[in-house]
Amino acid sequence: MMELRNNVIWITGASSGIGRALAVQLARYNTVIASARSQEKLLQLKEEVPEIVIRQADVTQMSQLADTSAFIDHMFGRLDCLIANAGHCEYLDVRHFDSGVARRMMETNYLGFVYTLESCLHLLRRSDHPHIVAMSSSSVYAGLPRAEAYSAAKAAISQFMESLASDLKPEGFALSVIHPGFVDTELTQGNDFPMPLLMSSEQAATRIIKGIEHGRFNIDFPKPLTWVLRCLRSTPHFLRHRITSSLSRNVHHEL
Ligand SMILES: NC(=O)c1ccc[n+]([C@@H]2O[C@H](COP(=O)([O-])OP(=O)(O)OC[C@H]3O[C@@H](n4cnc5c(N)ncnc54)[C@H](OP(=O)(O)O)[C@@H]3O)[C@@H](O)[C@H]2O)c1
Repeated sequence: MMELRNNVIWITGASSGIGRALAVQLARYNTVIASARSQEKLLQLKEEVPEIVIRQADVTQMSQLADTSAFIDHMFGRLDCLIANAGHCEYLDVRHFDSGVARRMMETNYLGFVYTLESCLHLLRRSDHPHIVAMSSSSVYAGLPRAEAYSAAKAAISQFMESLASDLKPEGFALSVIHPGFVDTELTQGNDFPMPLLMSSEQAATRIIKGIEHGRFNIDFPKPLTWVLRCLRSTPHFLRHRITSSLSRNVHHEL
């Protein structure tokens, strides 16, 4: 186990929710660069924890990510840990099929992560213990209703990380991919269905930090939920789809 202390850590999507909670907890013993689009929310974070370095950057805009990376290079000369957390959730309504939802999910959630990594991989290579942490979702373990576009973008991240581990582990990189269940944040506040085992951002951040410190590749929580979803994934498709279709009927009934 390696405690996260005296590291230079960049967290994207740190203006609210899980990213913000991670920034607050990690800033106790590390240098944290917190980025997001909302300058107002970043300033509120800085007011609460003045040690946190804030940078406005949209993960879909490579020039803004390059600026942040250049800033980190100038200030610290290296990056020990990237937590690519920025993300957004939009549901697809198959009754009014809109490919724009899929495009936006891929742009922010998947390409946003890839662009962020591209902007700072050279800085991570300067660390003697580089760690890449990517935010996926437990929704990748099951075909949950209306989550086609969101889950596909998150599954792309999980699969990207699998191959990246093969390529970067020989260079001494550690990699982690996070698959959370339901966390009470702005992202889930609009959900109109039951969210079992809902946890707070602070609880989620504590589990993520523990997972990173233990060098886990898969950081999955809460375990009972991810076990159920993983079991569902491995059941025969006719049974699996009967279960998820019943969830889908409930969701569409509520709409
Ligand atoms: N909450 C859950 O139950 C749950 C479960 C599984 C996975 N996740 C994942 O966890 C991550 C954090 O979500 P959250 O639940 O904490 O939601 P949140 O409170 O809405 O936080 C999302 C963060 O991402 C940032 N963001 C969104 N689009 C961005 C963009 N284009 N460029 C830069 N930053 C952007 C937002 O900041 P700005 O708007 O200021 O840019 C915000 O800081 C997401 O990747 C989400 O998919 C959440």
